[in-house]
Amino acid sequence: MNFDSFWYIVAESRELKPGTVLGRKVLGEWLAIFRDEKGRAVAFQDRCPHRNSRLSLGRVEHGCLRCPYHGWLFEGEGQLVEVPSEGADFQPTKSRGAKSYPTREQDDYVYVCLDTEQADSLEPFSMPNYGKPGFATVRLINRFHNNVVNCAENFIDIPHTVYVHPGIFRKSLRQKIDATVTRSGGTVFVDYKNEDTNVGWFSWFLNPTGDKIVHTDSFHMPNVTSVEYIFSPKRRLTITSQSVPCADDDTLVYTDLTYHFGVFTNFAGPILRWQSQLVIDQDIVALDQQMEVIKKYGEEFSNTKADAIHVLVESIRDELAAGRDPRALPDKSADFSFWV
Ligand code: FES
Ligand SMILES: [Fe+2]
Repeated sequence: MNFDSFWYIVAESRELKPGTVLGRKVLGEWLAIFRDEKGRAVAFQDRCPHRNSRLSLGRVEHGCLRCPYHGWLFEGEGQLVEVPSEGADFQPTKSRGAKSYPTREQDDYVYVCLDTEQADSLEPFSMPNYGKPGFATVRLINRFHNNVVNCAENFIDIPHTVYVHPGIFRKSLRQKIDATVTRSGGTVFVDYKNEDTNVGWFSWFLNPTGDKIVHTDSFHMPNVTSVEYIFSPKRRLTITSQSVPCADDDTLVYTDLTYHFGVFTNFAGPILRWQSQLVIDQDIVALDQQMEVIKKYGEEFSNTKADAIHVLVESIRDELAAGRDPRALPDKSADFSFWV
């Protein structure tokens, strides 16, 4: 098992309209994505086997992809079906096809797996509460100039929120927060025990009574984080981010904010989108700065107790980098406290 074994988002389903081809990068691999005649998503290596032009710059004709250079035509499985220069002499052949990767479509996202052998052994991550009755989703896509680990860690890091998003998301109250962090089966769970009103501009709406809230964060190998707040039965919010590694310093982050706000669910979308994008824009700046320094001085961290989450996330990523299955790591659990 390694990073290629997993499913990565390459597009929203609605972006991939029949007749269009999209160019994407995943783990340094270049991809051309389109829909075949039956509407199924297809992913080719973005390289024509003839003389190496870019298939993503070609055009889709009746569910087949035509190379922009000499017009070779490939059907959805990658098989070559026409060579214009060979005219009526053309003989269909198994060789000379385009290299293709497995795709899936789930929760209105298109996924690609780069390891054809492993594709069936793992499933794409299921977006929590997506499409469930009573829930609505705001979907955001952002590019970060940093790697997947630092992005994922940022999304489940509380201490930075009072500095990077002062007021908007949290403010410094010198409050002690207790938490339990657990690593099990390639996942890191964090359970925060005593949080109440310090959740930003909309605390008055999200938690008007100021009661304790249920707040759990989780990291799912290799690239997914999910933050869940249950303020009350009629105020629930889950923020799930899939960080797609395009290159070492280039990560495309697909974020779903899925919420149930009772009678306000139908109206809350625009304001939630606006506030969340503001917060993400601040994180993009913070992560740009971090990557600039890492490029100059290398990556060496000094950890506090609150960084226990990051240490466990990194232990999972390290196993994958070594080609091992992180689910074989022993379960680990620890209580810790920190101040915000
Ligand atoms: S390079 Fe693609 S058809 Fe020639
Ligand atoms: Fe942040």
